[in-house]
Amino acid sequence: MRTNQPQTIYLSDYKAPAFLVDQVDLCFELFEDGARVHSTLSMRQNPESGSGAPLELHGDSLKLEFLALNGTPLLAGAYQDEGDKLVIPEVPAEFELAVVTWIEPQNNTRLEGLYKSSGMFCTQCEAEGFRCITYYPDRPDVMARFRTRVEADKSAYPVLLSNGNPVEQGDLDNGRHFVTWEDPFPKPAYLFALVAGDLLEKRDTFSTCSGRNIELRMYVEPRNSEKCEYAMDALKRSMRWDEEVYGREYDLDIFMIVAVDDFNMGAMENKGLNIFNSSCVLASQDTATDAAFQRIEAIVAHEYFHNWSGNRVTCRDWFQLSLKEGFTVFRDSQFSADMGSPTVKRIEDVTLLRTAQFAEDAGPMAHPIRPASYMEITNFYTLTIYEKGAEVVRMIHNLLGEELFRKGSDLYFERHDGQAVTTDDFVRAMEDASGRDLSQFRLWYEQAGTPVVAVTDDYDESRGVYRLTIRQSIPNTPGQTDKKPQHIPFAIGLLNSAGDPLPLNLNAEERNGPLERVLELTETEHSVEFHGLPERPVPSLLRDFSAPVRVQYPWTREQLLFLMSHDPDGFNRWDAGQRLAVDVIQSLLGAPDDAAVEPRLVEAYRHLLNDIELDQALVAKMLLLPSEAYLVELSDQADVPAIHDAREQVMKHLAHALRDELVACYQRNLDQGDYQLSSEAIARRSLRNIALAWLLHIDDEQALALAGEQFDNADNMTDRLGALRALVNSGFEHERNQALAAFYQRFSEDPQVVELWFSVQASSDRAGQLPQIQQLLQHPAFDWKNPNKVRSVVGAFAGQNLAAFHSPDGSGYQFLAEQVCRLDDSNPQIAARLVSPLTRWKKFAPHYCEQMKAALERIRDKSELSRDVYEVVHKSLA
Ligand code: PHE
Ligand code: ZN
Repeated sequence: MRTNQPQTIYLSDYKAPAFLVDQVDLCFELFEDGARVHSTLSMRQNPESGSGAPLELHGDSLKLEFLALNGTPLLAGAYQDEGDKLVIPEVPAEFELAVVTWIEPQNNTRLEGLYKSSGMFCTQCEAEGFRCITYYPDRPDVMARFRTRVEADKSAYPVLLSNGNPVEQGDLDNGRHFVTWEDPFPKPAYLFALVAGDLLEKRDTFSTCSGRNIELRMYVEPRNSEKCEYAMDALKRSMRWDEEVYGREYDLDIFMIVAVDDFNMGAMENKGLNIFNSSCVLASQDTATDAAFQRIEAIVAHEYFHNWSGNRVTCRDWFQLSLKEGFTVFRDSQFSADMGSPTVKRIEDVTLLRTAQFAEDAGPMAHPIRPASYMEITNFYTLTIYEKGAEVVRMIHNLLGEELFRKGSDLYFERHDGQAVTTDDFVRAMEDASGRDLSQFRLWYEQAGTPVVAVTDDYDESRGVYRLTIRQSIPNTPGQTDKKPQHIPFAIGLLNSAGDPLPLNLNAEERNGPLERVLELTETEHSVEFHGLPERPVPSLLRDFSAPVRVQYPWTREQLLFLMSHDPDGFNRWDAGQRLAVDVIQSLLGAPDDAAVEPRLVEAYRHLLNDIELDQALVAKMLLLPSEAYLVELSDQADVPAIHDAREQVMKHLAHALRDELVACYQRNLDQGDYQLSSEAIARRSLRNIALAWLLHIDDEQALALAGEQFDNADNMTDRLGALRALVNSGFEHERNQALAAFYQRFSEDPQVVELWFSVQASSDRAGQLPQIQQLLQHPAFDWKNPNKVRSVVGAFAGQNLAAFHSPDGSGYQFLAEQVCRLDDSNPQIAARLVSPLTRWKKFAPHYCEQMKAALERIRDKSELSRDVYEVVHKSLA
């Protein structure tokens, strides 16, 4: 905690470490009032940096009990304790340093380093948590072998885990015991992990491609015994997939997953010992929605894939974070696409990117996927690093093609195994393996902001030539103006009026050109002609979202309707529908309640509802109207209540006009038989729940009966929650309250379901007005110390309940400011993340914008602001 201005750290200041660590020997003595950590470091000067530098070790909130150099205790004058650093001015070229620290996991509310979560000890060391455990050169380019002994009371903590393989265990005096773990792979401290608790063990095995047998273990609290199967299965599928698609075999003899309730993020890829937020790993049919199952599959895969993309090859410094995160998100999205529907997965990824990452990239925290500076690295675990980072890797994949990309990734892993490297090393491996020049492409790593690609066209009937003119521009972002044009792969196709794809002939002689081309835009302006076209074609632009850019083209509603039903590119079909719906909603902004809604939109939706030929998973996606958040992102001076009203008007109009089709859709998609997690079954559930939601939105009595029945008799959480959500968002107040009470009563013992219960209310404009939010905060199940609970109430309110959050009296903003200030004292990481909805204040209509700014100023003026919140608030107000 500090009030003075935190330091900015620059990539350009990077220096190789002065000292390296070869071996770390740790012993943790865990007690009820704290923990004593004995550490012995075998260190030497780094031959690659000059000698004579003092030894500097990071430390945070540590009590130093003992310090010895080569066996000789160091007295007070021989070192300086500078608060966040321990400096020893004189050390030999090679030495052994012994450090003993005392820490208090029980009082650790930041959830960084060693802390307690519902009775168990666990760690979170990325990015800079290891320094909260002991003094250490806590930077990813210092890689060492770890040997870890854990001692604790045997009955309270029968399970003692760390990275690598268990090598020794035994009993100690006073009912205590120990286990020693050894990790043969050198690793940075951020991948260190320890767990101690009374945990249930689930076992399985996996036989690798080379025939090695791996022990797979999940450790959970006994009450979660029935919620492990899905994650274990997803793990085995991930292990097989990484062998088949990337040739990556697992390298230790044991792989462990632990579930903890209190966790700042989703999960963590600690070597051999992945630690998960319970909500990202535990699931059963009764308690988890389809979306949760899919998220678990993706996160289990993500953390597992990190074993190569992150652990075996790691980051040189935290500016390179996207090296492991962008690549690993790309890998997990390929995996999910292979496990389910690729088009649906693409739609989901792009929805997140366009709604939230584009907003980030247009806001005050905008940064390139390889940032040039930061104050607090935790603030840089962003959608830009993760999602845009993954899009950049995807573009390389598409530019090189499957085979050369695999050659490039093989070369990358082989060349850099055991090293801490940069994004540039990654790109170079791709270049070297493929022979392609990616020098201009590298700008994607350096320039922030979402490129705008503006397309115009003209058709010369006499020559049969269709010309596209494509201009790219990249908006200014904090600290960056006058950007250079980037290398943008732009996939397109052309359709004739019958809806057939046309050959893309680049000159008058070409006859049977391909039906799709990827234009490589490298200049500010690019123009291309297509020949041999007897009529003006309809362009299908940026197919499959081939680059993370905003496309501008003067589509007519006619063209969008046409693409919605004819584009062979599934993604673009969906996108055309979204653009049409956005256009219709935008045209109703500020219009009277009875203003006409575009009848062709209604007919398009009617067609979709009746279309049983089209992939039903795609139909379900196409039926979802663009979210309020996306509509806000697309507008200049957003008036949220007006956006909310216009969207409501369209939704209600559609529901009234399509009432019978919706009821039929509901009935047609009722499940007979057992619960399944196939794409088809998931699509059926989502179709019937969309139908229910729309019908209850207009307070349809028949739908009320259907919802009640579904709520009572559902054999899975997707349907039960779908019914609850529909009731909560209806005008049937009595039934809403009844259902909420029944739901809570049924699941009050299950924290993950209680989180769903909180968020269904907090994200609803009907059940989540500010007074109701205040009540949720008073609920006995709410807990300020648990990040998931905070996210499910405060996060859901500010991030998803836009109409209530942007209440014209500014009360939502003031509320958020208060909660941020309160949380900043206990958990700065979570506090800083919660500020995010306020940071985009400049985007809103003047009345809102001023009040949002005032709320930010209120946070700024709090005394003792953490570095995390300081950075976000000051950059937002700059
Ligand atoms: N490295 C984790 C992941 O993406 C995320 C994480 C970051 C978790 C920091 C905890 C702390 O898989
Ligand atoms: Zn990751």
